[in-house]
Amino acid sequence: MAVLLFILLWVLVALAIFFVAARGGPRGARATLQTQSHAGRRVAAVLFAILYLGLGVAVPLVLLIGAHHNANAQINGVRLSADAKKGRKIFGDVCGACHTLSEANAVGKVGPDLDQLKPTKQLLQSAIVQGRQRGNGTMPANLLPDPNDQRAVVDFVYEVTHPAPATPGK
Ligand code: HEC
Repeated sequence: MAVLLFILLWVLVALAIFFVAARGGPRGARATLQTQSHAGRRVAAVLFAILYLGLGVAVPLVLLIGAHHNANAQINGVRLSADAKKGRKIFGDVCGACHTLSEANAVGKVGPDLDQLKPTKQLLQSAIVQGRQRGNGTMPANLLPDPNDQRAVVDFVYEVTHPAPATPGK
């Protein structure tokens, strides 16, 4: 989308230059534009409006939206499901204080480093529901009472610690 718009803009610029050239250089173009003819003025006004809207509004908008979209959908090259995106936020709120997980920018040192542990879904689920106390400190039970929150966090941690192999051509 952004690329198309970019190309379109340069096509317009080229057209404008062609217009100027066809009228016999800048002076000819100015003479044309300054004639009292309605058509000439309308062409100038339309050209200006298109350039103004295109350069000043559309391109920055497209770039902004594009960047925003990418920031949400992809974290360090890992494409998250909608559920996992929700889980990322919950992880930051609830788990990040105790666990390290780079994709969540979490650097907690109380519990094991989840980047290294790469827990399975079952391990995550059971740790979240039952808590853990196996001699390496305490993880409270039932940190996330809502099953939807549990699933979101399980999916998030699993997805970022088990990235799918890169698909060729993607
Ligand atoms: C209060 C600190 C604390 C919080 C908050 C916390 N944990 Fe833990 N977690 C720990 C500790 C400590 C351990 C290690 C317990 C042990 O092995 O004795 C642990 C262990 C784990 C394990 C490994 C379990 C195993 O059997 O190896 C996983 C997975 C885990 N936590 C995930 C999470 C998730 C997901 C959250 C957020 C819902 C979370 N933790 C929140 C402290 C915490």
